[in-house]
This record gives sequence, C-alpha cells and structure tokens, in this order.
Amino acid sequence: MDDRQHTGGLRNQTWANLVLQGLVVLFGMLTVAFLLNLWGRQSPPHPIPPVDPAFLDTATVRRSYADLVRAQEDLSDFDCYTCHEKNKPPVLRYDANQNLLIPPEHADIVMGHGQHGRNNNCFNCHNETNLELLQPRDGRPLTFADSTPLCGSCHGPTYRDWEAGAHGRISGYWNRTLGSIKRQDCVNCHNPHSPKFPPRKPAPGPHLLHETEPVAAETAH
Ligand code: HEC
Ligand code: HEC
Ligand code: HEC
Ligand code: HEC
Repeated sequence: MDDRQHTGGLRNQTWANLVLQGLVVLFGMLTVAFLLNLWGRQSPPHPIPPVDPAFLDTATVRRSYADLVRAQEDLSDFDCYTCHEKNKPPVLRYDANQNLLIPPEHADIVMGHGQHGRNNNCFNCHNETNLELLQPRDGRPLTFADSTPLCGSCHGPTYRDWEAGAHGRISGYWNRTLGSIKRQDCVNCHNPHSPKFPPRKPAPGPHLLHETEPVAAETAH
C-alpha cells in the first residue's frame, strides 16, 4: 500500500471527525439558546376581528307599508280615518315663510323632499279626497302597498333605471325561467317624506393577514 495514500486517508478521517464534533457543539449551543429563549418569542399574530354583522345584513334600511302588512305589524299610522273625517280634506297650514307646518299628531313626519323642500306638499302624493290612497301624476288611484309607480310618476329617469336594474336592488334568479326576481320598492330605501339617502360608513376592506403599520391597520379595519 502506498504510505502517502494511507496518511492522507487518516488526515481526512480526523478532519471529518472534527467537523462532526463541531456540528454537535453548534447544535448543542443552538438547543441551549432556544431553551433559554435568547432571541425572544415571536409576538402572537393580531387577532382578526370578525366583520361587524351590520355589514352583512341584507335587509333594506326601511320597511315599507307592504312589508308591515306581510309581517302583520301595527298599521295604525296608516288608519287615516281614525282621526280624520271622511269627505273633509285636511287643510294645509303654512308659516309666514311659506314653510309647511306639521301638526303635532304627525310629529314623526319630517318633511324634506328635495332641496328647499320642493316637494313637501302632502297632496302631491296623498289623495285629499281619500287619504288612504296615493295620487300619482296620471291620477289613477294607488294603494300604500303600491307606492313605487307614484315615485315613478315624477322620477321618470330613475324609475326607468330601477326597472332596468341599474337603480335599487334586484334579487332572485338570473335565469327567469327558473324563478322570479324581486325588486325592492323605492320606499324600502327612501323615506317618502325626506327621501335623501343618508351617508353610510363603507364596509371594511379585506384583512391583509400580516402586520400592517398602525395607520394602515386603522384604515383597514
Ligand atoms: C293620530 C291621529 C291621526 C292619524 C292616524 C292621521 N292624522 Fe293626519 N292629521 C291629524 C291631525 C290632528 C291633523 C291636524 C288637523 C287637521 O288638519 O285636520 C292632521 C293633519 C293632516 C294633514 C295636513 C298636514 C299639514 O301639514 O297641515 C294631512 C295631509 C294629513 N293629516 C294626512 C294624513 C294621512 C294621509 C293619514 C293616514 C296615512 C293621516 N293623516 C293619519 C291626525 C291624524
Ligand atoms: C313624495 C310623496 C309624499 C309626500 C309629499 C307626503 N307623503 Fe306621506 N306617505 C307617502 C308614501 C309613499 C307613504 C307610504 C310609505 C310606506 O310604504 O312606508 C306615506 C305615508 C304617510 C303616512 C303613514 C305612515 C307614517 O309615516 O306615519 C302619513 C301619516 C303621511 N304619509 C302623512 C303625510 C303628510 C301629513 C304629508 C305632508 C306634510 C305627507 N305625508 C307628504 C308619500 C308622501
Ligand atoms: C310630485 C312629484 C314627486 C313625487 C311623487 C316624488 N318626488 Fe321625489 N322629488 C321631487 C322633486 C321636485 C325633488 C327635488 C329635486 C331637486 O331638488 O332638484 C325630488 C327629490 C327626490 C330625491 C332626492 C333627495 C334630495 O333631497 O335631494 C329622492 C331620493 C326622491 N325624490 C325620492 C322619491 C321617492 C322615493 C318618491 C316616492 C315615495 C318620490 N321621490 C316621489 C318630486 C317628486
Ligand atoms: C336598494 C335601495 C334603493 C332603492 C330600492 C331605490 N333607491 Fe334611490 N337611491 C338609493 C341610494 C343609496 C341613493 C343615493 C346615492 C347617492 O347618494 O349617491 C339613491 C338616490 C336616489 C335619488 C337621488 C338622485 C340620484 O339619482 O342620484 C333619487 C331621485 C332616487 N334615488 C329615486 C328613487 C326611486 C324613484 C326609486 C324607486 C323607483 C328608488 N330610488 C329606489 C337607493 C335606492
């Protein structure tokens, strides 16, 4: 056997032993470091707050007369003739600035239809000779349950958008051979007496799952 080759093999073996021992020491030190928790623990991830259920609620902001009838709720507000006399239209009263005065019996009604209350006159919508009916522009009698054509008689373009599904909300079937659709009535979203839709807080954006700067976190929640 070649002597040089033999000592070369021995040198390689001691070298390998040294490396292995070094590794054992290194891992031993790492174990101690981890046990002593030298680097500290990772802070637990932020809890992801559940989405406010208010944002998941699909109910409309208002319940129409038709909804109250379906739910068999109190309809006394619509019983005009418990207080009014038939064949005696109520008289509209105005203050010195021509602002409509609301009698205390109707204090729950806040009138503000259009800028400067342009459409505050009760009898633009209610039929003065039969208070239980609504009166659209074309004069045909409408019940409280059928108020959307009343709105449509003055808001033609919006009514067309609503019919086409571009205004309001449609639910039900895309494929109408499978089932019907349901449109929400104007009064499900607009109070007829003060119809301006109040601003609402937007729903939160998607959760990013990783830490964000406090400012960014604020806007993300
Ligand atoms: C709780 C009793 C009560 C009920 C129910 C009621 N009213 Fe009246 N309403 C009054 C009183 C009182 C007045 C003021 C006196 C008057 O003009 O007859 C009034 C006045 C009015 C006026 C005149 C408003 C103004 O600003 O001068 C209109 C229009 C009217 N009512 C419509 C209705 C209609 C439509 C209904 C049913 C959907 C109804 N009321 C139900 C008690 C009532
Ligand atoms: C733009 C049309 C419009 C005008 C103007 C209007 N109303 Fe109405 N009113 C309606 C409609 C539509 C309903 C039924 C709404 C529903 O389905 O919730 C209603 C409901 C009512 C009711 C029963 C429910 C409630 O809110 O108490 C009363 C009472 C009433 N109106 C009185 C009046 C009086 C008084 C005036 C004038 C001061 C007036 N309305 C002006 C459209 C109008
Ligand atoms: C007699 C006509 C007439 C009827 C009926 C009528 N509106 Fe209006 N509406 C108006 C006028 C006029 C304005 C004011 C437009 C403006 O100020 O530029 C208005 C404004 C509005 C606005 C804008 C709100 C704001 O304050 O700027 C909404 C929303 C609205 N109407 C919804 C309805 C709904 C819902 C109905 C049915 C319950 C209805 N309207 C019935 C005439 C009508
Ligand atoms: C599902 C709810 C919903 C229904 C149903 C709905 N609207 Fe609206 N409408 C809104 C909202 C929300 C706004 C406010 C948009 C804004 O402020 O930018 C609005 C705005 C309006 C305006 C203000 C002007 C405009 O076009 O921006 C009018 C007028 C109006 N709606 C009339 C109607 C009429 C008439 C109907 C029924 C034929 C109707 N809406 C049905 C939600 C609805």
